[in-house]
Amino acid sequence: MMTSLSFQVGIVVSLLFRPILGHSLFNRGNTHCPPFNNGTFSIHQFQLYPDMARYDPHSCLLYISSLFNGTIATFSPHTNTTLPTITFPGITEIFDLHASGLHLSPSTGILSLVIDAQPAFLTGGANASGDYFLVKYSTRSNRELWRANLTSVTEAKWSGFQDVAVDKRGNSYVIGTYPSSILKVDKSGKKITVWVPPKTRNTTVHGFTGVETFGEALLVVDSNGVPEELSEGDSLLWRFDMRDERGRGELVKLKPEGVKLGVPDAILLPGKYGGKVMLVALNYVGIAVMRSGDGWKSAELVGTVKSDFPAFFQRIIPSAVQIGEKIFMVGQSFPGEIVPGTKGGNQSDFPFFDITAEVDALLV
Ligand SMILES: *[C@@H]1O[C@H](CO)[C@@H](O)[C@H](O)[C@H]1NC(C)=O
Ligand SMILES: *[C@@H]1O[C@H](CO)[C@@H](O)[C@H](O)[C@H]1NC(C)=O
Ligand SMILES: *[C@@H]1O[C@H](CO)[C@@H](O)[C@H](O)[C@H]1NC(C)=O
Ligand SMILES: *[C@@H]1O[C@H](CO)[C@@H](O)[C@H](O)[C@H]1NC(C)=O
Ligand SMILES: *[C@@H]1O[C@H](CO)[C@@H](O)[C@H](O)[C@H]1NC(C)=O
Ligand SMILES: *[C@@H]1O[C@H](CO)[C@@H](O)[C@H](O)[C@H]1NC(C)=O
Ligand SMILES: *[C@@H]1O[C@H](CO)[C@@H](O)[C@H](O)[C@H]1NC(C)=O
Repeated sequence: MMTSLSFQVGIVVSLLFRPILGHSLFNRGNTHCPPFNNGTFSIHQFQLYPDMARYDPHSCLLYISSLFNGTIATFSPHTNTTLPTITFPGITEIFDLHASGLHLSPSTGILSLVIDAQPAFLTGGANASGDYFLVKYSTRSNRELWRANLTSVTEAKWSGFQDVAVDKRGNSYVIGTYPSSILKVDKSGKKITVWVPPKTRNTTVHGFTGVETFGEALLVVDSNGVPEELSEGDSLLWRFDMRDERGRGELVKLKPEGVKLGVPDAILLPGKYGGKVMLVALNYVGIAVMRSGDGWKSAELVGTVKSDFPAFFQRIIPSAVQIGEKIFMVGQSFPGEIVPGTKGGNQSDFPFFDITAEVDALLV
């Protein structure tokens, strides 16, 4: 049922044009993991409610931030098994604390997780209260390394932190949404700098939602004041230089001229395309595919893979993820009524839609 007609058509197109793309061959030697060719799959886990996911080519496991639970779920796509969930004492048991932005450094196996506080996201930024954290967890030694309290710097005057990227020196850049801001956290987690301060005291202006890196460039997508619940947007893409003492954003020129990018969530530069392709999750719409040939000074919107799966999934698309050589669209759901004594709804079935063929077809 989840393999819609458009997915099947896409597969045929991709097989024809794959040799032209060539990226797959280039990266295959980097991993000992078996290929993952299952196509669309579901993870059957109570209250998974995934926000972001990262595949680890070292352990061949998928790590998933479980939004409402405030945990990281661990799943083996190759064997369809769920491994023990990673919990964070003092965070996981608090109802208002959620797990959102997730980053994995493949070389060290360190996960960076943004813990956000529910009030800002429930009120469109009107209520900026609650504690926000950046947490580092080693998947190699299975322990939390440190956590930094982001609210100790903002004093909840602004908030909405929801995603993170990491530079070569181990500094983390946590992006805030209500309104736009960036906090830089040093490698030890002890020093937190306001790298890009908010431009307004009005916390209801919906701003940055997703972040990625390309070399020393920090790429940030900005909803540009359009509220999260709308699907038609006019989003911006910013490029910062992570070597700068303070962040100075340059606008990435969007092409074709006059094109409008919808209201975004997370962004991803899948490894298989060598940083030249960006996938922008668009709530209720799908995944927009962007391409840059000049190091993200400009970017071309080449098309959108629609989230045309059953209405049951409410078309909420928080992010995309690469598993092996395949690209998946992460399906989220509204939790509905909270199951008493827990933090989420009653769902136990969360789809990951294989959109590899559709993305490749747009890149021909
Ligand atoms: C979420 O929490 C519930 C209990 O509150 C637990 O049963 C479930 O396994 C958890 N799921 C994840 C992915 O953390
Ligand atoms: C993927 O396919 C393999 C081989 O058929 C199977 O063993 C595994 O359980 C599948 N994984 C998922 C997530 O369905
Ligand atoms: C994966 O495992 C779940 C149980 O956890 C099962 O319901 C589902 O059918 C399995 N999928 C495949 C493709 O074997
Ligand atoms: C903001 O949210 C918190 C947590 O839900 C709540 O305690 C507080 O009263 C709210 N503040 C306002 C001004 O509504
Ligand atoms: C985080 O910092 C805020 C602001 O200083 C403080 O109110 C809160 O208690 C801190 N949280 C923890 C768990 O230390
Ligand atoms: C704050 O921003 C929102 C959304 O852009 C706007 O509707 C509202 O008028 C602003 N409030 C003030 C006090 O400027
Ligand atoms: C989950 O809860 C909703 C109400 O929020 C209900 O309509 C649905 O039947 C429940 N589903 C399951 C599997 O219990």
